[in-house]
Amino acid sequence: MATPTKKVIIDTDPGIDDAIALCYAMAHPELEIVALTTIFGNVDTKLATDNAARLCHLMQTSIPVAAGAKTPLSINPNPHSYFVHGDNGFGNIRIPDGTPSVVDDSAADTIVRLIMSNPGQITLVAVGPLTNLALALRQEPEIAARVESVVIMGGVFDKPGNVTPFAEANVWNDPHAAKEVLQADWPLTVLGLDVTHQVSFSREFFDNLAAGNPVAGSFLHDAAEYYIDFYEEKSNFSGCCPHDQLALTFVTNPQWFECESAALDVVTTGEEIGRTIRAHDNQGSAKRIGKQVNADQLRQDYLATLSGC
Ligand code: BDR
Ligand code: CA
Repeated sequence: MATPTKKVIIDTDPGIDDAIALCYAMAHPELEIVALTTIFGNVDTKLATDNAARLCHLMQTSIPVAAGAKTPLSINPNPHSYFVHGDNGFGNIRIPDGTPSVVDDSAADTIVRLIMSNPGQITLVAVGPLTNLALALRQEPEIAARVESVVIMGGVFDKPGNVTPFAEANVWNDPHAAKEVLQADWPLTVLGLDVTHQVSFSREFFDNLAAGNPVAGSFLHDAAEYYIDFYEEKSNFSGCCPHDQLALTFVTNPQWFECESAALDVVTTGEEIGRTIRAHDNQGSAKRIGKQVNADQLRQDYLATLSGC
């Protein structure tokens, strides 16, 4: 097996599409996951932490899991998305508890410690609300200069949102944190609904996944039933959208994405709260915004990665 060449921290709220992304990351030979940090969003932070540990157990890997913030920085918490991800976050499919790899340090402490002690080496991937990243930046602003890169699944720029006409869920769940994170001076790429909605995983895709990987693939196949039912009942989408996977595919295969460059802002009050926008007058450091992705290559690579582990 190849030696891992990229150290990643994944901040996550598992969540079915989080589980899809985490199984890929754990299976990928180039990635070394140095910590999972958890956040409320799809589920509460306690369940997100337990689910992250369960996925480590499923994938037979031991990764430190650090629990994160339980509430957003400023707004009252929004309801969790149990109607999308099931009562247990995994479409009501049960998997065994993880071995106790949960650490005492908070998510923000863990992010700061790992980035500061591995300068230029850590890719920070966030696929949930951005509270932990904002807290880490407040605690140690120097992480912005020490991180290798930051990849975020969140926001939407040129299409309607998925929780309001303006906002995507991860940003809407903590718009103040998102504003701090998207405006920090660090090398950041944001992959929003503009690009994540270009990819669907069909029922047939999950059949192939289960055939190629009877343990993790079968779990994802079963969990995805609930998620696909949600998509097909509530929208014209066929199959489901593996939002969070795009952030992991961007880490392993950035050449499959087209991006534009712009300074960013987030609306934090009023009817448009949680809306991500290009900053007026382009003030602030430029970030990359995902515009296009090669969906076929992403799907093929996903199946090959899970089948090969
Ligand atoms: C994002 O919100 C969550 O529901 C998903 O896990 C994903 O991170 C999509 O808007
Ligand atoms: Ca997520």
